Amino acid sequence: MKLLIIGSGGREHALAWKLAQSPHVTHLWCAPGNAGIAQEHCAKNGAPVECVPIDAEDLPRLLAFVQEYRPNLTVVGPDHPLALGIVDLFHQHGLRIWGPNRKAAQFEASKVFAQQFMERHGIPTARAGNFTEAAPAKAFAAALGGRCAVKADGLALGKGVLLCHSEVEADTAIEALLVHRAFGAAGATIVIQELLVGTELSLHALCDGRVAKLFPTAQDHKRALDGDRGLNTGGMGTYSPTPFLDAIGLAMVQERILDPWLRGCAAEGIDFRGLLYPGVMLTADGPKVLEFNARFGDPETQVYLARLENDLVELLDASVNGTLGRMELAWKPESAVCVVMASGGYPGSYAKGRPITGLAEANRLPQTKVFHAGTARVGDQIVTAGGRVLGVTAWGKNLATAQAAAYRAVEEITFEGAQFRRDIAAKALA
Ligand code: AMP
Ligand code: GLY
Repeated sequence: MKLLIIGSGGREHALAWKLAQSPHVTHLWCAPGNAGIAQEHCAKNGAPVECVPIDAEDLPRLLAFVQEYRPNLTVVGPDHPLALGIVDLFHQHGLRIWGPNRKAAQFEASKVFAQQFMERHGIPTARAGNFTEAAPAKAFAAALGGRCAVKADGLALGKGVLLCHSEVEADTAIEALLVHRAFGAAGATIVIQELLVGTELSLHALCDGRVAKLFPTAQDHKRALDGDRGLNTGGMGTYSPTPFLDAIGLAMVQERILDPWLRGCAAEGIDFRGLLYPGVMLTADGPKVLEFNARFGDPETQVYLARLENDLVELLDASVNGTLGRMELAWKPESAVCVVMASGGYPGSYAKGRPITGLAEANRLPQTKVFHAGTARVGDQIVTAGGRVLGVTAWGKNLATAQAAAYRAVEEITFEGAQFRRDIAAKALA
């Protein structure tokens, strides 16, 4: 089987690494990929993974590539091409592609849609309203005592959420989005949610339009600095599983969140074949959904795929074919930890082109894999090329072992200005 992966981050490197292990895969392309993806090989025949310089959002060129090279399946990593309707476009041309179509991708692409869907189908979430005018938005925020999350409706590179703790903060946030258009058209409509208090988890469920197979739990660390201080980022590290939701809790998630979500999709004619990633807050009243994403998480994928025992090609195929009901997901009992190494300054501005050393040494450590995110090759040298640079991932018999192994690997790696959190998984071990 020949596969094309779309995307260029740590998530896509983890997907490429795992898919390349499949005995079904004889060729793998990644558009546009990164320097780490370009070092992978298919286990079956040793064929190198080929990075193709086409942007993940350049739908016409991706279509032309697939029509010429005929991969048997295209696997979409990031949210934006999904929101642009890449799945619908490929279907119109009779091409197989994994990921939700445009209508199904609305769970992530429109927070208003997701919020109203949850309300229609009784899925536990934060109390919320949606607004296009500042005055009623401010009145709603005031009724919550100013303690609210102000969210741009559309995709805003993961930055469209402003957490507020007072009426002054809420008013400023509302004006920034609705009046000053801080996120452009994405913020022309906003959702305001009450602030939920509790422990935040990442959940993933693979779906085939009929069933949703829940993964084990993972937890991301969204803030830039230790102790959950600093600015929100795309995610500075993950671990799986978490001790904060046990098997009974996961069964509750299935029953209270996924089952009504599936019934709602069926009722509304939404054919979701892809990955549903609910961000969940474990509150005193049980798990509540903060948001839905319609793709694999980054860096959640790095720890999930380190633990997944199944052949991922078979799972994605079943998700496309609507035959997931026959599959059982199998997970290693080991824990996995991913520590993101970022460029100094991230999530603000940062330098690029800094040489990275120690990658081979880190990868030689047992039960360790360094996933690349923002990297590039210049001659013989791998250099930094983005905000999140590497996802240093390790697994072990328990969380403490996995955490120690991940930080042991981080010690091997250097680049000027490297920035990483020293407390990934620490809350779970406390
Ligand atoms: P989102 O992009 O919706 O996940 O929001 C980004 C981050 O803001 C989440 O990961 C949470 O940490 C936080 N957040 C979002 N909504 C809420 C809420 N209603 N209450 C508390 N925290 C929230
Ligand atoms: N881990 C955060 C995200 O993928 O959105």
